[in-house]
Amino acid sequence: MIEDRAKGKNITVTSRLPDGIADVPIDKDTMAQALLNLFLNAIEAMDQGGLLSASLSHSPDGMIKIEIADTGSGIQKDHLERLFDLYFTTKPSGTGLGLPIVQKIIEAHDGRISIASEPGQPTVVTILLPMEG
Ligand SMILES: Nc1ncnc2c1ncn2[C@@H]1O[C@H](COP(=O)(O)OP(=O)(O)OP(=O)(O)O)[C@@H](O)[C@H]1O
Ligand SMILES: [Mg+2]
Repeated sequence: MIEDRAKGKNITVTSRLPDGIADVPIDKDTMAQALLNLFLNAIEAMDQGGLLSASLSHSPDGMIKIEIADTGSGIQKDHLERLFDLYFTTKPSGTGLGLPIVQKIIEAHDGRISIASEPGQPTVVTILLPMEG
C-alpha cells in the first residue's frame, strides 16, 4: 500500500533489513499501525517526490533500532516540540492524532521514539525497542 502511494508521488522507497537482528516481542497489529502512520507522514511531506527509507539495526546500547527517514519538507523548530501533542497538525484535513498514537504504541512496547528534522533537511524518525529477555 505504501509502495503504491509512493510510486504515484514519484517517491523511491528503500529498506535495509539485515539478517541477524534479534527477535523482539511486538504486538503485530499495533506496531503495523504505528509504522503505517509514520510512512504516511513521510509520504505526505514529499509533494515533489523524494526518498523514503526504512532500516532496522542494533543500537550501540543493545536495543533494536528502527529508522524511518524522508527527504520531504523537514520540520521547523517550533513545530518539532509539538509533534506529539494531541491534535497538533499543519495539514488542512489532518487530525493530529497520528504521532500521539504512534508514541503510545511505542511506549506500550517499552520503547522510545524521537524525531529529528530541520526545514529543508531530511526528517528521521528513530524508534528504539528493548530486546527480549
Ligand atoms: N515526516 C514528516 N515530515 C514533515 N512534517 C511531519 C512529518 N511527520 C509529522 N510531521 C508534522 O507533524 C504534524 C503532526 O503529525 P501527525 O501524524 O500527528 O498528524 P497529521 O499527520 O497532521 O494528521 P493525521 O495523522 O491524522 O493524518 C503534521 O501535521 C506535520 O506538520
Ligand atoms: Mg499523520
